[in-house]
Amino acid sequence: RSDNKVTVHFVNRDGERITARGSPGDSLLDLVINEDLDFDGFGACEGTLACSTCHLIFQQDVYEKLGPVTDEELDMLDLAYGLTDTSRLGCQVCLTRALEGMEARVPESVADIRQSQDGSS
Ligand code: FES
Repeated sequence: RSDNKVTVHFVNRDGERITARGSPGDSLLDLVINEDLDFDGFGACEGTLACSTCHLIFQQDVYEKLGPVTDEELDMLDLAYGLTDTSRLGCQVCLTRALEGMEARVPESVADIRQSQDGSS
C-alpha cells in the first residue's frame, strides 16, 4: 500500500492549524520531527520521558483511542504545565489508522523540568 498514512492536524500556540501525515507506529514526536514542524522547545528530551515539552492536548473522543498510559508517562505528565484530563505526552502516543484526522493541540506553555530544576533547591 503506498498510502496508509495517518493525517494529524496540529494546532500550534498561535491557534494555527498545521496538517501533517505520518505512518502508523510513528509517535507524534516522530511526526513533528520528520515534518519539521516548528513548535518551539517541543520534544526536548527526544522521547526519553525526561521532559514534558511534548505535552499535547486532545479532544475527548480522540484521547480515548490513544494507547495506554504508563506510570512513567503519568509521572512526567504531572509536571507538565497546563495539564488537562485529555493530555498526553506526544512522544508516547503512536499513530494508528483509528486516529485518522485527529487533532492535537500544542499547549501555550511548556515546562521543561530539567530547566526548572536548575538552580532551585
Ligand atoms: Fe520528552 Fe516526550 S519528548 S517526554
